[in-house]
Amino acid sequence: MKNIYLNIYKSNFINLKKAKKNIENNIPIGLPTETVYGLASNAYSDKSVKKIFKLKKRPSYNPLIVHFNGIKNLKKDVVYNSSFIKLYKAFCPELVSAGKKTIAVRIPEHKVARKLLKILKFPLAAPSANISSKLSPTCANDVVDEFGSKIKFVLDGGQCKIGLESTIIDLTGKPILLRQGAITAQKISNILGKKILINKKTKIIKSPGQLKLHYSPGIPVLMNKKNPKKDGALITIGKKFKDSKNHFNISKSGNLSEAANNLYKIMRKIKKKNFKSISVCKIPNFGLGLAINDRLKKASNK
Ligand code: TXA
Ligand code: MG
Repeated sequence: MKNIYLNIYKSNFINLKKAKKNIENNIPIGLPTETVYGLASNAYSDKSVKKIFKLKKRPSYNPLIVHFNGIKNLKKDVVYNSSFIKLYKAFCPELVSAGKKTIAVRIPEHKVARKLLKILKFPLAAPSANISSKLSPTCANDVVDEFGSKIKFVLDGGQCKIGLESTIIDLTGKPILLRQGAITAQKISNILGKKILINKKTKIIKSPGQLKLHYSPGIPVLMNKKNPKKDGALITIGKKFKDSKNHFNISKSGNLSEAANNLYKIMRKIKKKNFKSISVCKIPNFGLGLAINDRLKKASNK
């Protein structure tokens, strides 16, 4: 049988070297991180970065998030303040070894991402590996689903542990949460000992959060519903909901981390099964539920 996933590579030593070669040759690759898969390229190379914008069909005003191996490398390129250090120490504790005025940075935890960053001489620009406005990929096959043969090399790092994009926080003034994620505003607030403002509309940059439709599975999404529409599916949470032909439970125990982890995967599955819409039952709006509802709200915009 023909393997349609020929461009997916197991993350062993040889393939990490191949990934390195591709990136050094300005060829973007699919990269696993604990949040979602990224489309990674040399952050220092305009040529590479241009390719990313083109592949993703990403508006040129939307900047890329840059991934570093650790704070030592980051120091060379980025000016940061004490709030950054506090968050770094709280959320990256084991990593010590390791045209805008601002830059979004991440030090991913995923072993494969770290191994690759370690053998590279430069950081990686890596936005989520999806076409602009669509769902982020949470496994290697999803990256291939998004780009087909346009991406020659995807490192397989399994299913992402978190499954939703990282938290983005603006630390340039009073801390402002630009994107909700697994590290919640509450957790950040506890570390900084300050209130965190939740961004409604960013004045500083036009981020995808501002584009009305985002995180879209490609069919209409409807929130706070009890039933699916005709030819549609229903996403549920909690033990009172059973799975059926058109009902998909993202966490029977009502665990919001599990729900976040299943959300994109199940939405992709529903789309593939040719349902015409996705209704979603009410998701509790605390903890990771905040990030889930944020994504659903944007996915339900027209
Ligand atoms: O979890 C993640 O962050 C994944 C993995 C692959 O690392 N990447 C990701 O990248 O989600 P992307 O580009 O899809 O989302 C990054 C967000 C975007 O909303 C972008 O607008 C924002 O970060 N961003 C990038 N640079 C920024 C900056 N200088 N100031 C404010 N926001 C920025
Ligand atoms: Mg994205």
